[in-house]
Amino acid sequence: MISKELQTARDFEDAYLHFHTNELPKFHVTGGIGWINDPNGFAPYKGEYHLFFQYYPYDVTWGPMHWGHLKTKDFIRWERLPAALAPDQEYDKNGCFSGGAVEMPDGRHLLMYTGVSKIRRDDGTVVDKQTQCVAIGDGVDYEKYENNPVIDHTMVPEGGSSIDFRDPKIWRENGMYRAAIGNRSEDGSGAILLYKSVDAFHWEFEGVLAASHNQYGRMWECPDFFPLDGKDVLLVSPQEMTAIGFEFHPGNGTVCLIGRQNAETKELVRENVHAIDYGVDFYAPQTLKTEDGRRVMIAWMQNWETSACKPGDMRFFGQMTLPRELSLREGRLCQNPVRELENYRESKITYQNVMVRSDISLAGISGRHLDISLTVRPGNMSEMYKYFRIYLAKDGERYTYIRYKPATGTIRVDRTHSGFPYDIVNVREFPVRLKDDTLKMRIILDRCSVELFVNDGEQAASFVIYTPAEAEAISFSAEGDVLMDIEKYDLSIDR
Ligand code: FRU
Repeated sequence: MISKELQTARDFEDAYLHFHTNELPKFHVTGGIGWINDPNGFAPYKGEYHLFFQYYPYDVTWGPMHWGHLKTKDFIRWERLPAALAPDQEYDKNGCFSGGAVEMPDGRHLLMYTGVSKIRRDDGTVVDKQTQCVAIGDGVDYEKYENNPVIDHTMVPEGGSSIDFRDPKIWRENGMYRAAIGNRSEDGSGAILLYKSVDAFHWEFEGVLAASHNQYGRMWECPDFFPLDGKDVLLVSPQEMTAIGFEFHPGNGTVCLIGRQNAETKELVRENVHAIDYGVDFYAPQTLKTEDGRRVMIAWMQNWETSACKPGDMRFFGQMTLPRELSLREGRLCQNPVRELENYRESKITYQNVMVRSDISLAGISGRHLDISLTVRPGNMSEMYKYFRIYLAKDGERYTYIRYKPATGTIRVDRTHSGFPYDIVNVREFPVRLKDDTLKMRIILDRCSVELFVNDGEQAASFVIYTPAEAEAISFSAEGDVLMDIEKYDLSIDR
């Protein structure tokens, strides 16, 4: 049964979705209209990959959360499906918050999400009540389970929170369902709780997978937990982080914890912890495993702090990163755009051994929907260059640049002149590791974003730009002598 609230959202989509298609990024997921945040339920279902997302169709601001819905066969070309969930029950009337999805053995599609309602406490204040709920469907329509919620605050360990208890990531393992859920522990900081179930309707607490102990931020949102290249990896999105060097910036951040899970205590024994993305706009990543065994991650390409800062005439807000293939290298999480992107490459242009020592541009190297690979090395072995810069999405007054400075060993991304009429965070800097003084960068440019992959995916940095689509120029500059190889493809997709 489609509720009145869900039908209203679907009718709204039918009425307005087609208006803005020429304003959207070409190959990054958006809601098409309204507001989106976290990816949800990113998982295979019946031979395709489904992606849901936190969604408020009616305005470009956050509102009572619905789940929007898309599916794809190749992570680049997406088919839009009608909104899947609306806040229409007593237990989720303030929002259907983030969660996951799984294909059941009998072919049904199960969504697990956080139902949010409000309660008034004895002291008169109003707080969230967050519980975990499920809905079952066929890939288009979903029915909320009659005995929701399936996990509530009575199943959190002592000292745990019923206010901050959200974002279940569900998967199947050895015939059991498992879920990792964000919670706030007694010390006020985040913990990831593990639950198990035989049928996805009756759950049991299993243990604490990891806890912040106020080390990496406070509440941990949006966990994902999976095996990768012989290790266990936990992704979390902490709120209220404090800065740690160039590694973590203040506010909402993303952290990956790599190690091995202790089979008895269920705890993840950490071996390495680092940021997932070093740019400005990246949050709440979710992963899935493809049929050919790849672990693919997608994230909200946005930053909560700046989410109110958008050009006044925008008719959609929020986009996802490109889906990225994950691997572990030297104890670090590496990420590269899904290989399917290569099927959309056209018009290859390459240059080799270009000497950059002042401002130059190169014939054929321009555009706003691009896949560019660069190799940069010293042009003069007896004197190291001072910096190398690439300017993107450039016109007479606007540009976005990426700079590498050998003396500090850091990359800086700077979108100060990228169309934002706000005094917000526009710059990030982070150290990179070079082999033989050679820096490799891959840059994916779409209408409203830049994604940078450094040294074959060892680090990534994502950021949103609102530079007008006509700003297509690209140029290079250096102080000192830099030798550069470049390979550029246009990215083309007809929708
Ligand atoms: C993270 C988050 C989640 C929550 C959702 C609400 O961005 O705060 O914890 O489920 O957004 O939209």
